[in-house]
Amino acid sequence: MSSSMQPFPSDAKPQEANAEGETNPELYRHYTKLVSGFPSSNGITNLPLYHHPKGWNSSLVSMVGSMVADSCFTARPSDIIVTTPPKSGTTWMKSLLYTTVHRKQHPVDSADHPLKSIGPHECINFFEYQLYTKNKIPSLDNLLEPRLFATHVPFVSLPRTIAGSGCKIVFVCRDPKDNLISLWDFVNKFRVKQGHEPISLEAAAELFCNGLSPFGPYWDHVLGYWRAHLAHPEKVLFFRYEEMHKEPAAHVRRLAEFVGFPFSAGEEEAGVVDAVVRLCSFEHMGGLVATKRGKTEFVFGVMENSLFLRRGVVGDWENHMSPEIARRIDTITQAKFKGTGLSV
Ligand code: A3P
Repeated sequence: MSSSMQPFPSDAKPQEANAEGETNPELYRHYTKLVSGFPSSNGITNLPLYHHPKGWNSSLVSMVGSMVADSCFTARPSDIIVTTPPKSGTTWMKSLLYTTVHRKQHPVDSADHPLKSIGPHECINFFEYQLYTKNKIPSLDNLLEPRLFATHVPFVSLPRTIAGSGCKIVFVCRDPKDNLISLWDFVNKFRVKQGHEPISLEAAAELFCNGLSPFGPYWDHVLGYWRAHLAHPEKVLFFRYEEMHKEPAAHVRRLAEFVGFPFSAGEEEAGVVDAVVRLCSFEHMGGLVATKRGKTEFVFGVMENSLFLRRGVVGDWENHMSPEIARRIDTITQAKFKGTGLSV
């Protein structure tokens, strides 16, 4: 076990419970005014997408949250941040990271493991959807180390203190065709719940291909983290959902080593890695009460945890997408990733 691991009290709480703080309505008003002046257009969700000057798109509240995080968040070298385009495996990675990092105080096989009672999004909070929302400036100083956070914000707009802090970034992406299907299904559940018409896959694909998806363009988002990984492999670890699916245990070991919590020989022998994989597997997570009945509060509303687990397979796009749309996405992917060494 790494010497950076710090003792935790056995009653360690999920981050949200600890992240109380002040409010600063003025700062939020300032950024809301700023973002409201950016160009905007219709996106896949029912909310307008605002175009950030650094080339990415998101809803008003999440862009404001990201800006407040940029001004107020102070990164520490021990922080670990999960970064993803939405619907690419965030929930899974949060579960794996939380379980891996906290396995001393919460043994993976324990009956009262936190993941069994609270959802992964309560274990690790998003900056822009949970922490920096509703005028809050959360007090994160007293959180136990290592502090775990998540964000969908592209590399270019991460809170500025992250760059020089030496903290670790864990990035996950997946085949954009599966990403789109997952996003399309998710936003339609949301649209219908709010009394809007569902969006057709054709219309969603058109917007996605034009970069008008939350925190898109998808390709620029992925490339930003890919380049950061190439430049600083010790700071940015790059995962593909498909590879995690194929060899979950190998990727849990990779994750554990990268974040400074490698599995000891004794743990390997005791099957702890496989236990982490099992606990966080789609099948196991899907059957938990925390998933079936639990809810998590985000800036855009309270959401059932079950919405974050749909099918959990690779290649579901083939069941929904026309060959034309698939070809169009593949063509963009090839063109955008050409010469970068990246393939998905
Ligand atoms: P599908 O919609 O293709 O099923 P995110 O967590 O970034 O919102 O991504 C959600 C996607 O990850 C969904 O994909 C969801 O089913 C899948 N997912 C969630 N938990 C998972 C797990 N434990 N193992 C594998 N896939 C998981």
